[in-house]
Amino acid sequence: MPSSRTRLIAGNWKMNNDVPAAKELAEALVEKVPAGNGVEVVICPPTIDLACTSHKIADSAIKLGAQNVYWEEKGAYTGETSCSMLKSVNAEYCIIGHSERRDYFKETDADENKKAKALIAAGITPIFCCGESLETREAGEHVAFVTAQIRAGLEGVAIESADQLVIAYEPIWAIGTGKTATAADAQEVCGAIRATLVEIFGEELASGIRVLYGGSAKPENIAGFLAEEDVDGALVGGASLKADDFAAMVEKAGE
Ligand code: PGA
Repeated sequence: MPSSRTRLIAGNWKMNNDVPAAKELAEALVEKVPAGNGVEVVICPPTIDLACTSHKIADSAIKLGAQNVYWEEKGAYTGETSCSMLKSVNAEYCIIGHSERRDYFKETDADENKKAKALIAAGITPIFCCGESLETREAGEHVAFVTAQIRAGLEGVAIESADQLVIAYEPIWAIGTGKTATAADAQEVCGAIRATLVEIFGEELASGIRVLYGGSAKPENIAGFLAEEDVDGALVGGASLKADDFAAMVEKAGE
């Protein structure tokens, strides 16, 4: 990996942990996750847990991310959460475009595009997810599919520095299934993503944008992914719910 990019390990708790459980996990992470090893660490709890988690990690190096946002500033949007609400609990990151949101909640590239723009304008870094289904991969269309998601989702998005955007490549067939892509599979697509970022943002910005791998990432396999040139970290689901596993992944990323 080119050394200029700071590795990033982000935990996606998905719809797990009520408030007491979130506090407990956050406390365990503060205790166990190595600090000062050069790895940036973000945890993304459910919206209801953001405030209490923020409080628990306030004196640590762990940063806070959300799992979703709505692009309007305020008003009659029942059930939604605005960028300024996320800012008010010190969220610095927000996952958008996760395949679960695209599949189950019918979010479109156009939705992700509005979310990306709103977050960047608010000073929150989107963790923009992309990834293909098994069918698309078997048809050999995964690179074209993922780069099209990037182009559509980032259309008209402007950034001034590379840390305003993170991409997470998550092949859908590897999410929560225990099936992982090989490191070479991840590099093939992450490399294509970076080439697309060069087209969109130019070489200088694109070379600094972190591209993460996600999909059954765990302590046993993370080093293999991180050894690839264009993989700068991981978006971790299941393994982020166990403090020991998540801490071990941060440790490995620092080696
Ligand atoms: P997983 O989830 O690590 O449980 O596969 C990753 C994700 O969906 O972000």
